[in-house]
Amino acid sequence: MRIFLDTANIDQIKQAVKLGVISGVTTNPSLVSKEGVADYAATIKEICSIVPGPISVEVLVEGVKPMIEQARQISTWAPNIVVKIPATAEGLEVTSVLAKEGIKVNFTLCFSLNQALLGARAGATYVSPFVGRLDDIGHDGMQVVKDIVGVFQKYPEIHTEVIAASVRHPEHCVAAAKAGAHIATVPNNVLVQMIQHPLTDIGVSRFLADWKRVSRK
Ligand code: G3P
Repeated sequence: MRIFLDTANIDQIKQAVKLGVISGVTTNPSLVSKEGVADYAATIKEICSIVPGPISVEVLVEGVKPMIEQARQISTWAPNIVVKIPATAEGLEVTSVLAKEGIKVNFTLCFSLNQALLGARAGATYVSPFVGRLDDIGHDGMQVVKDIVGVFQKYPEIHTEVIAASVRHPEHCVAAAKAGAHIATVPNNVLVQMIQHPLTDIGVSRFLADWKRVSRK
């Protein structure tokens, strides 16, 4: 499973790139607005220049024609742009047009296997089931990821990759990897937690203390 960072924060992205573990970034309007970004295009272009992998960028209009036009425009910002299109009937139509033009689509706000299957059939490069938001309403979000992965595997002509999104804690990453998700897109706090283990910290301290005792002799 590959790891994307789910943020529009430039400092977090630069730091995660230094760790050498992220191969893409996903953004959404909420994440971008949280950063108080004045120039949407400039911020996205900067992210695209920092990370040499797919950068998902949400289309911010409604209606088939406006979405297609905006997606075409956004796709010119950088070669690694992926446009995020919502999992609606209009979104399907938009996805099928864009896919035929070679524009990569992340079919987002997916909450069911049916939505993901239709997104894949329309030509989406990625589908993004939102695990945490399903958990929030008492559903089993990870089960949807498992179902999508399982069904896509049964049909070898489907090359759409599954991004486990709306990841809230490290256990979501464990479960997504076990489910066979191609990618988990994780907020920075989850990425930080993924590497932490108290036994590692205790082990490092003990090794250094033991070494100091020996080296003093
Ligand atoms: O990748 C989708 C993600 O940004 C949504 O996460 O935590 O707002 O449900 P959340």
